[in-house]
Amino acid sequence: MKISKTLNDLTRITQQWKIDNLTIGFVPTMGHLHAGHIELVNQARAQCDKVVVSIFVNPLQFNQVSDLQAYPKTLPQDKEKLSAANVDCLFLPATEAMYPQGQSVTTKVCVPGITRELEGEHRPGHFDGVSTVVNKLFNLIQPQFAYFGEKDFQQLLLIKQMVKDLNIPVEIRPVATYRETDGLAMSSRNSRLTEAQRLVAPQLFRVLQDVARQVSEGQLTLTDIEQQAGESLLQKGFEVEYVSVRDDENLVPATNSTTNRLVLSAARLGEVRLIDNLRID
Ligand code: PAJ
Repeated sequence: MKISKTLNDLTRITQQWKIDNLTIGFVPTMGHLHAGHIELVNQARAQCDKVVVSIFVNPLQFNQVSDLQAYPKTLPQDKEKLSAANVDCLFLPATEAMYPQGQSVTTKVCVPGITRELEGEHRPGHFDGVSTVVNKLFNLIQPQFAYFGEKDFQQLLLIKQMVKDLNIPVEIRPVATYRETDGLAMSSRNSRLTEAQRLVAPQLFRVLQDVARQVSEGQLTLTDIEQQAGESLLQKGFEVEYVSVRDDENLVPATNSTTNRLVLSAARLGEVRLIDNLRID
């Protein structure tokens, strides 16, 4: 596995692959890799000639400095996992390489609409940071395919919209949420849970399953179902930011006539913020 720390080094490698007519699959990450990330890598590996993974803890998308500072870093283990998954190139840029003029004066990409609510409401500026860095990474790597997890459903939709709106020549391939055996969606943040919190954490997915069942049964109004779910999470020890049933194409609030619905939630256990979502059949 090649490791590129500079933009020049990276583009030298990827440009040669382009000349050789090889397809490039790209998996952007912030590191502290788990089996969910590796699932994205495995799909890229199976579908593309060359696989590039980036690890960059993007300061532009952190709305709280404490969250950025607490973001876990496990580079030696990450390298081993990526090497074992047959990744061709790991891109590890320094913050100064990505934002040479400083973050506050860099050009930003803003995807309106879809980014305003849910995560956007609770993490101001977060999505502008995500769309900006992903756009830069796409420009540098120029992949034909890029892989994003459904775990971050709103992020996936905003990247799809950015690609469409800005005519970026890349195909976005979504990957289903990878879970622990007890249902907890894998996340780099899970390692910050205490033992007691880790036992409670899978309840988030349980509550989403209850919501999905209740919505399918159609006995209660969506507002009642959302409210009950919020109360249920609160009782279990979560601080709830939102539980909301939405249209899975544009994330507008679902109604009874919405065909494809999903429920999304964000809730905190102590300092750790968990998000999850589930499609409703
Ligand atoms: P990060 O949280 O490291 O996630 C990298 C990718 O892995 C994202 O596409 C995310 O949705 C996916 N992922 C995380 N947990 C997953 C799981 N349990 N199952 C399936 N996929 C999962 O998301 C980011 O980084 C950043 O915002 C980034 C896109 C890299 C931009 O900085």
